[in-house]
Amino acid sequence: MRNMFRTIAPRYDFITRAFSYGMDKSWKRLGVARARLPKAALVLDLASGTGDFSLLVGKQCPGARSVAVDITERMLVLAMERGVERAACGDAGALPFADGTFDGVFVGYGLRNFPDLAEAVREIERVTRPGGLLVSLDFFLPANRMLRRLYLAYLYAQGVFWGYVLHGRPRIYTYIPDSLASFISIDDFSSLLRRSGYASVDARRYLMGGIGLHWAAKA
Ligand SMILES: C[S@@+](CC[C@H](N)C(=O)[O-])C[C@H]1O[C@@H](n2cnc3c(N)ncnc32)[C@H](O)[C@@H]1O
Repeated sequence: MRNMFRTIAPRYDFITRAFSYGMDKSWKRLGVARARLPKAALVLDLASGTGDFSLLVGKQCPGARSVAVDITERMLVLAMERGVERAACGDAGALPFADGTFDGVFVGYGLRNFPDLAEAVREIERVTRPGGLLVSLDFFLPANRMLRRLYLAYLYAQGVFWGYVLHGRPRIYTYIPDSLASFISIDDFSSLLRRSGYASVDARRYLMGGIGLHWAAKA
């Protein structure tokens, strides 16, 4: 997985826009705007990739500081080239931060890639202060079975197309439907958050439940 992210890193921003029909930025902007972070908030951009959430927090929340954390060094190098000021290599399963460090944790298309979702949510909850927020944007399985099949087939075809065009490797982006096939739905993720110590959980759905944007406040 890490090798794959190292390979796709230089094309990552383009592919994110392509898979979301250019809507990714507006979803992320809304994710930050509705978080209503306090002044001088400290924010974790987990699985930051090239640092979209860090950059948006910097733009939309004057006074807030963010730390980008990713397991792939190459992504962090690109994030810093784009202007991200604080970045560190780290694993979502064992974050190098004390309990209650952050006012908010933002995760863009990250949770689906972690080997143990429940463990990652526990770890995120641990480093969040009481009342602090988790904001997650990710692919989810549509609840309708027929729609789910069509969506996975469509993502697979799109992955093969862009993998071939951009890298000459048709399977390089099929990790998206592959990781999604064993993932959960938007509602199941909301339930997992409630069971994991989050009191108010709110979600928006896009692409008929194929993309979900969650806000959850730690109890
Ligand atoms: C699909 S990219 C998301 C990038 C960015 N957050 C965004 O919204 O576009 C997923 C990122 O998760 C990182 N990642 C995968 N497993 C991880 C882990 N266990 N801990 C930290 N980062 C991880 C990858 O290196 C990759 O940069």
